[in-house]
Amino acid sequence: ILVNNLGYKLDNVVLEKCNIKELGDFQVNFAMKLAKEYSKNPRDIATEVVNKLDDRFVNVNIAGPGFINLTLSDAYLLEYANNEAIDFKNNIDKQDDKTIIFDYGGANAAKALHVGHMRSPNIGEAMKRLCKLYNKNVISDVHLGDLGRQAGMLISEYREMYPDSPYFDPNYKGEYPKIDLTVKDLGIMYPRANLKAKEDENKMAEVREITAEIDKGNKAYTELWRQMVELSKVTIKEVYDKLNCTFELWNGELQSMEYVDDMMKILLPYLYPSEGALIMDVKEESDKVEIPPLIVIKQNGATIYATRDLATIYERMKEYNPDEIWYFTDERQSMYFTQVFRAAHKSGLVKEETKLKHFGFGTVNGPDGKPFKTRDGGVMDLSTLIDNLKIEVDKKIKDNITGKEREEILDKLTIASLKYTDLLPYRKTDYIFDPVKFSSLDGKTGPYILYTVVRIKSILNKTDIKDTKMTLIPNTDTKDIILKLIELPKVLRITYNDASPSYIADYVYELCNLFNKFYNNHNILNEENEKIKETYLALCNLVYNTLHNLLDILAIDEVEKM
Ligand code: ARG
Repeated sequence: ILVNNLGYKLDNVVLEKCNIKELGDFQVNFAMKLAKEYSKNPRDIATEVVNKLDDRFVNVNIAGPGFINLTLSDAYLLEYANNEAIDFKNNIDKQDDKTIIFDYGGANAAKALHVGHMRSPNIGEAMKRLCKLYNKNVISDVHLGDLGRQAGMLISEYREMYPDSPYFDPNYKGEYPKIDLTVKDLGIMYPRANLKAKEDENKMAEVREITAEIDKGNKAYTELWRQMVELSKVTIKEVYDKLNCTFELWNGELQSMEYVDDMMKILLPYLYPSEGALIMDVKEESDKVEIPPLIVIKQNGATIYATRDLATIYERMKEYNPDEIWYFTDERQSMYFTQVFRAAHKSGLVKEETKLKHFGFGTVNGPDGKPFKTRDGGVMDLSTLIDNLKIEVDKKIKDNITGKEREEILDKLTIASLKYTDLLPYRKTDYIFDPVKFSSLDGKTGPYILYTVVRIKSILNKTDIKDTKMTLIPNTDTKDIILKLIELPKVLRITYNDASPSYIADYVYELCNLFNKFYNNHNILNEENEKIKETYLALCNLVYNTLHNLLDILAIDEVEKM
C-alpha cells in the first residue's frame, strides 16, 4: 500500500530473509524492479520508501544498488504474537465461499487397498481441511472404483457357491434377498476367483460375461454386486477412518451408471465412430504435446472409466452445481484427466467457468526406487505397509507405557508417522518408503513432531500460570520463533495455490526445530524472572496452538505421551 501510495504500481512485496543477520531480519528488492519500469535510480526509490516507513520497522538501511534491509521492532513482534498469531484464523486470508467438490480416496471395491491408494486420501483430506478454513464450501466424494472385472469375479464365485440362488434364476420376479456374506468372505472369494480365472478359460469367459451384463444394467447382477459393494465399503471405511479421512459422499462408478444416458445425450453430437468405438476429439491448436481423442464408449458398446467419470461430472453438476471439482490421483492419470475435462467443457457438460482440476502426485517407491511391491512381486497392501511401520514405531515408545494405553499410542503414532511421511515430499515428487527412517525420533518425521508436541503440553501442564502474554523478547531463540510465526499465512497460501500440503509439513518441522532449540537453551519452568517466565509460557502456548491447528489440517492426531 505504501509503495503504491508513492505512485508506483506494485502487486506484492516479497519479504526475503536477510542473509547477513546484522543488516536486518528481512530484505526487499523491489526498488530495482521499479527503477527499470520508471527509469529512476533504484537507491532514490528505496530512499523514498524508507522515509515513509513507520516505527514497526527498525534498523532500516539501504544496501548495494537499492536493497532495503529492515528489522521488525520488538514492540511489533510482541503485538503480533499476543494479538494476531494467537487466533489461528488470522493466518487465513479472506476468500470467497465457492463450492468445491473433492474427489479423493478412490479405493477399488472388493480389493484390498494398496500403497497406491495412500497419497490420494492423505493429500485430498489435508487440502479439503485447508479449503474449509479458507471459507470454501467443501464436499468430498470417496469415488469408489466399484465397477469392473472384480464384480464379475465375485458374482461368478457366488454362483458356484449358491447356484440355486434367485439371483441366477432368469424367471425370478420377486424382490432379491439380502445376501448372507461377510466382508471376510469377500476377501477370500476374490483371490480364489482370480486364481481360477487365470487357470480356466471358461471361468474367465463367465467373468467377462457377467461384467458386461452389469454394464448393460442386468438387474439381478447389479443388485447382487451392489450388496457386495456395500459390504466392501465397511472395510474401506475402516482404513479411511484410520487415516482420519472423512467423506460426505460415498459414491462411485456404480452409482454414476444411472446418469450415463443423460450424459450421453449431451455428448452424442460430439462423438464419432472409430473402429467400432465412440470417440471424441479433444485436441486444441495450442497443444504442445499430442492429446489423443477420448474413447467414450468401447468397441463392444460398453462404458469405461471415462464414461463413468463424465457421468459423475453430470451428476455432480446436477446435484451440487459446484464452482470447482478437484481430483487427487496418481500423476500417471494426468493425460486422462486432461482428456475428460476437455470433453466436459467442449460438450457443455460443465459451464465454461466451472473449473475442473487434477492434482497428480508421485508414486510411493520401494527401496529399489520402483513402485512399492511385496517380496513376491505383488502390489504392496496398505495394511501390510502400516504393519511394517508399526513394528518400527513400537521401538520408539517408552517401556513404562503398557497395555491398552500403549496400543492406542502405538496406533496413533504409526498413522502420524505414515501420514507425515506421505505429506512431506512435494506433491508431484516420488519418494522411497523407509519404515526405519520414517519412525525415527530425529529429523523430519511424525514421531519427532509429536514428541515436540508432547513436550510442550507437558510444560504447560506442569504450571498454574495460565493465559499470560509476552511482554519482552529476551533472546534470539524467542525472536526466531515469532519470526517463523509471521511466515505462516504465506505458507498456507502457497499450500493452497500449489495443492501441496508439503509446505505445511515442512513448516511444522521448522517450527518444532526452533522450539526445541529454545527449549534446550532455556529452563522455562525454573526461570526466576517472572516477566520472562510468563513470556516463555505464552510462547509455549502459542507454539502449541499453532502446531495443533496445523496438525489438524494434515489430519494427524496428537498423543498425550509417548
Ligand atoms: N479408482 C481409481 C483408481 O484406483 C481412482 C478414482 C479417481 N477418481 C476419479 N473420479 N476417476 O485409480
